[in-house]
Amino acid sequence: MDHGDWAYFEGQIVSIQEAKISVMTHAFNYGTAVFEGIRGYWNEDHENLYIFRLQEHIDRMLRNSNILMVRPKLSLTEIQDIIIELTAKNGFREDTYIRPVCYKSEHELGPRLHDVASDLVIYEIRLGDYVNISGLKVAVSSWRRLRDNAIPARCKATGAYVNSALAATEAKMEGFDEAVFLGEDGTVSEGSAENLFLVQNGVLITPPVTADILTGITRNTIIELARNELGLDVVERPVGRTELYVSDEMFFCGTGAQVAPVVEVDRRPIGTGKLGDVTITLQKLYFDVVQGKIEKYRHWCTPVYDR
Ligand SMILES: Cc1ncc(COP(=O)(O)O)c(C=O)c1O
Repeated sequence: MDHGDWAYFEGQIVSIQEAKISVMTHAFNYGTAVFEGIRGYWNEDHENLYIFRLQEHIDRMLRNSNILMVRPKLSLTEIQDIIIELTAKNGFREDTYIRPVCYKSEHELGPRLHDVASDLVIYEIRLGDYVNISGLKVAVSSWRRLRDNAIPARCKATGAYVNSALAATEAKMEGFDEAVFLGEDGTVSEGSAENLFLVQNGVLITPPVTADILTGITRNTIIELARNELGLDVVERPVGRTELYVSDEMFFCGTGAQVAPVVEVDRRPIGTGKLGDVTITLQKLYFDVVQGKIEKYRHWCTPVYDR
């Protein structure tokens, strides 16, 4: 990984070589950690790096850390300040990915959450596109999305990503770019690391927060931009598998995936099988917003330099 030289570990910024956990760490053995994925976008004209929706990511992490009882002792503002300081110290002048992890740090046997100390680690890498953003061919997975009452997808727990890894691996080994999860009830949930949207007759449709999805910050961004900038109706409702095949357009979204059009599902073309107008418009708008090019949405972009 093309990582930054500095990380936050055990309460301080240290060199990435020093940020090491033991083989006995609880989170390593049991997947007991909650993480975030945050992007920083380099704006060449402003000569600044903008961290996208930093506050919302930290807020989500703190809420989720409650589920796994890994809540850091730091406040939202303190964590934000650490991330800004760390990112500035890493000195990135290109697109960046920031990974905070709240984890069970004690060397303890036994899969439990209470009575086990936790800590916060943050590292950063340089990151361009995580998936192809010019037309994905995807497949419905034979793996089902894990349920809220088994391992909550909303929690962004590291252990839950075994479910994502199984689906993504199956899809890629079968020659597809990505997987679409159905939930145990058979309705559409999300991708392995992305939320998804359909366009049907000019209306944007996405599975609800009860469909065992991670409640994506990009998902929320797309809903706001579609409503406020494009005047589109957006409906959050259960989505049937075959709706994927009959929709006009489909796209994935997420911090990593950004806005990634899907042109084929299970070897069936979606709409014309080419990039759709709504998706392309939203993709362009999204990139302008995250790069801090649109004043109206600059409050979502935290500058790292010249503060
Ligand atoms: C399973 C899953 N769903 C959805 C998303 C999208 O969430 P966000 O837009 O907050 O990055 C992610 C992370 O990127 C994810 O891992």
